[in-house]
Amino acid sequence: MQIWELYSEKETLALGKKLGEQAAPGSTYCLQGDLGTGKTVLAKGLALGLGVQEDIVSPTFTIVQEYSGRLPLYHFDIYRLANEDELWDIGWEEYIGSGGVCLVEWADLMPEAMPEEAVWLTIEKDLSKGIDYRKIKIESGKQHGIIRN
Ligand SMILES: Nc1ncnc2c1ncn2[C@@H]1O[C@H](COP(=O)(O)OP(=O)(O)O)[C@@H](O)[C@H]1O
Ligand SMILES: [Mg+2]
Repeated sequence: MQIWELYSEKETLALGKKLGEQAAPGSTYCLQGDLGTGKTVLAKGLALGLGVQEDIVSPTFTIVQEYSGRLPLYHFDIYRLANEDELWDIGWEEYIGSGGVCLVEWADLMPEAMPEEAVWLTIEKDLSKGIDYRKIKIESGKQHGIIRN
């Protein structure tokens, strides 16, 4: 497990960029954190690190946005899905098996659907350390403690 402490949006972008530069084919990044903590900012950084040229838009209404970079990036926001079946219906299995990079905002809403080997990133604020402070925990699915059927 790793803990990162970031004191500005720029620092979160830089952490995401580093993750994108190191991302392996077929990897999944599961993002957890309240609204406005910086999940989309982290996604933008990761896209930068993958060499995506387009602007990243929040996939809240489209559920998934696809980008091409060093590896394809599939950026999900599953907040508006009613249940896990809807995720499988849009082709989740193909996405995670594609060899591209999947990044999922609100992954904690459907933890059982996430691949066992996914990397979990949990973002928290701590207002006592300033409004731009974020703590990001990076851990494996196993460390994160996903309960499976
Ligand atoms: N250290 C930081 N890391 C990321 N975002 C930050 C940070 N400090 C302030 N912010 C602000 O917090 C907001 C995060 O928004 P966003 O990434 O859309 O959140 P989410 O996708 O988690 O709902 C942005 O307005 C951003 O400017
Ligand atoms: Mg978002």
